[in-house]
Amino acid sequence: MEQVHVEVPARGASYEIKVGSGLLDQAGSEVRAALGGKTQRVALITNKRVFDLFGAPVVRSLRRSGFEVCKWLMKEGERHKSIRSLEQALNFFNQVGLERNDVVIALGGGVVGDLAGFAAATYLRGIDFVQLPTTLLAQIDSSVGGKTGVNLAGGKNLVGSFHQPRLVLIDVDTLRTLPRRELTAGWCEAVKQGAVGDRKLFEETVRLLGSIDLSLWNGSVDFGLRKNRVTTRKGAQTEVYATHLTAIIAAHCHFKASIVAGDERESIDRDDRRSRRILNFGHTTAHALESVTGYRRFRHGEAVGYGILVAGALSKNLGMLSSGELELLRDAVAACGPLPRANDIDISRLMRAMKSDKKSVAGQIKWVLLEKIGSARIVDGNQIEPLALRASLREVLRARK
Ligand code: NAD
Ligand code: GLY
Repeated sequence: MEQVHVEVPARGASYEIKVGSGLLDQAGSEVRAALGGKTQRVALITNKRVFDLFGAPVVRSLRRSGFEVCKWLMKEGERHKSIRSLEQALNFFNQVGLERNDVVIALGGGVVGDLAGFAAATYLRGIDFVQLPTTLLAQIDSSVGGKTGVNLAGGKNLVGSFHQPRLVLIDVDTLRTLPRRELTAGWCEAVKQGAVGDRKLFEETVRLLGSIDLSLWNGSVDFGLRKNRVTTRKGAQTEVYATHLTAIIAAHCHFKASIVAGDERESIDRDDRRSRRILNFGHTTAHALESVTGYRRFRHGEAVGYGILVAGALSKNLGMLSSGELELLRDAVAACGPLPRANDIDISRLMRAMKSDKKSVAGQIKWVLLEKIGSARIVDGNQIEPLALRASLREVLRARK
């Protein structure tokens, strides 16, 4: 097992992220150790698919550690990360009599985590919260750093708060059942994290991607290991791979935690290379792509995959990034797996959608661009010629059939 310590100095808070194989079976003792003896009740938020896969061992383990467990299954999908689901979750807390010293546990991907975290942040003005993330994206990104929230009809994540978890417990075995597209989405976010802040992390991520075949992952082959890598007994090889996966996920959590420690609330005054804003690399285009396709075509991470490529091309077109570095970025995104088509998307419409990005400050988009792999630069939207942006969008979206 790997452990990452997260400090949030601005809040005087800290917590542990634990990553490893088989950790859901120990959920009870880990939550008890993190929260102490006073906590009686757990409100477990998940969805049916995830509960059917992993719910039983989690509930068993929590009960063994003396928790009374009540569960609420939210509907599956991004569109249920909504005020309506939030209200249902809060009413559920109220009906089961959740008290100040009880805990909300999120078991699932980023949708479950964001909604459960926001419900915990607001119920009784804030109760404890634990994350048990089960998608790659949630394990390397959304479960870490305390951003919680829901969507409005007008856009994603428009309502939310910062509410840090008391514990994040990451069981890499849950990834065995993850569909290929969800893996691609998670790996795109992983490439993003390495690209903006840590070249070694970027290289390690790409190396790991080279050893797996994503099309095999959710089939007969554990973790999609390429045949030529299976040199020992299958079980032993899988174990080795789980160790690599554990290490890379922990490294990503460590990186994200280091950014969050310095800038928990993504201060609008900061535009240095360690500001939390750098984590939005690729997101200006991604949010626009998601919005113009009605949130139906892309998984969030897939749209980020395109967004990374656009921001990379723009960085090169503005003379900030070399062709060689852009090539590394392209190869990394390609290794994450195929992305849904985007060559039919109207570029003018996309550019208009970018203008309403919620991350704008004083009407200006803050672009996260790259100087090289591992080093980001934040640039005001008014310094970017629309023609350069249009050319970069065409270059990326039209190139991919
Ligand atoms: P998701 O939560 O929708 O999960 C993807 C799908 O996988 C769902 O259908 C889910 O039921 C299923 N699933 C989950 N675990 C599984 C497993 N182990 N095996 C099989 N199926 C499984 O999507 P996501 O990519 O995890 O999260 C996306 C959300 O995260 C978005 O709402 C995004 O805005 C948010 N997000 C938040 C942050 C943050 O800092 N809070 C960061 C990035 C993304
Ligand atoms: N996923 C971006 C952030 O947490 O800040």
